[in-house]
Amino acid sequence: MGHCPCFGFRKKANRGEKLTFQQEEHSKVIEKKLHSPHNVSAEKPSGLLTPEATFATKEIDHSNNKAHIFTFRELATATKNFRDETFIGQGGFGTVYKGKLGKLNQVVAVKRLDTSGAQGEKEFLVEVLMLSLLRHPNLVNLIGYCAEGDQRLLVYDYMPMGSLESRLHDLPHDKEALDWNTRMKIATGAAKGINYLHNEAKPSVIYRDLKSSNILLDKGFVPKLSDFGLAKFGPTGDQSYVDTRVMGTHGYCAPEYATSGKLTRRSDIYSFGVLLLELITGRRAYDENRGHDKHLVDWARPKFKDRKNYSKLADPKLQDHYSGSGLTMAIELASMCLREEPRQRPDAADIVIALDFLSSKQYVQRVPIDFDEKDKYTNDSPKAIMTVLTKDVQREEAVAEAKLWGKTWRDRKQNDQSSLEEINR
Ligand SMILES: Nc1ncnc2c1ncn2[C@@H]1O[C@H](COP(=O)(O)OP(=O)(O)OP(=O)(O)O)[C@@H](O)[C@H]1O
Ligand SMILES: [Mg+2]
Repeated sequence: MGHCPCFGFRKKANRGEKLTFQQEEHSKVIEKKLHSPHNVSAEKPSGLLTPEATFATKEIDHSNNKAHIFTFRELATATKNFRDETFIGQGGFGTVYKGKLGKLNQVVAVKRLDTSGAQGEKEFLVEVLMLSLLRHPNLVNLIGYCAEGDQRLLVYDYMPMGSLESRLHDLPHDKEALDWNTRMKIATGAAKGINYLHNEAKPSVIYRDLKSSNILLDKGFVPKLSDFGLAKFGPTGDQSYVDTRVMGTHGYCAPEYATSGKLTRRSDIYSFGVLLLELITGRRAYDENRGHDKHLVDWARPKFKDRKNYSKLADPKLQDHYSGSGLTMAIELASMCLREEPRQRPDAADIVIALDFLSSKQYVQRVPIDFDEKDKYTNDSPKAIMTVLTKDVQREEAVAEAKLWGKTWRDRKQNDQSSLEEINR
């Protein structure tokens, strides 16, 4: 299968390209705001400053959303002059710092653009434009930005649990691995974010950069999609795709997009399949250290063919703490999202239904209940809930499960059949 040979890792990569017509229209509005005489940020940067700055933010109204315009001085103060102790991480766009906005008494993440030139400027504009237009509980919240002289900074809600990538792959040995229920909750939230972009936002948006490092985790592991600098408004009229230069991150890119540059919503669905596989297996989408198995999808795909192999796909860090049916559903959903033929991949709305169902079936670790110990559990404790689950509830769940997955399987068979017919024609 194809991967994106032309761009490799997106970290520190060149990410510029033409904006679509609609983006240009919206970005003109934002650019006008950025350069309006009322914009306090339109002056030259005043360098790194001492913390007595006044809180001189202005607000602009993007229909129902408001984004603060910060002065460089305010953000330098918030991050203690971008000192090392406030450093969170480095990405392709720039450096991220933790800060505190005194007057709002709010902890924030400040992303400071370090790519100079038109390309960085374009991504900055697209990010401000997209996040000003879009609002959803599973999308990161842009509080505001600074565009003072050459400085370009973005200010977001601070996400205390870091990125999914760091929780899944870079966890220190003394920290507990993400459990199955949390992984499915994260997958469900991410799917809801994608469904909002594809099916609810007007105009619809193709995210184009779905990956574990772009899923930030709020309190309670609520996932938030971040980094919209590569996003595109969906196709309009009769057009079913958007023509773009191939951009993305190694390991997540849909094969047809890599080879043709034709971007559709189903390219995001493929990336979602990779992400789900990452959650199931605990392996990186692309891992140079794994030699022959460096592409997660290439390693996993042969195992989709036989359910007997499914347990080989489960992350060893889960220590078998998942239900067999939950694992089966998750793998089958991932395999549908990863189909080579884009039209056979499910729509984001169907993925949300399947994952809502899957994560409603919480895995509860079976604890052998000692007769003498039994009374220690109140009826509300999770352990007790396990034991008092009535047969009726179990039967109801089993019926609902069978119906949903029966339907999915019928659809799949139908699709496979019609594509076979197409090929034979
Ligand atoms: N709002 C935020 N709250 C907390 N941490 C954040 C926030 N935004 C970004 N980070 C962290 O900052 C680091 C850099 O993020 P950034 O988005 O710039 O790069 P990336 O996602 O790692 O790579 P890429 O540029 O390819 O998307 C990451 O570790 C990320 O978890
Ligand atoms: Mg990112």
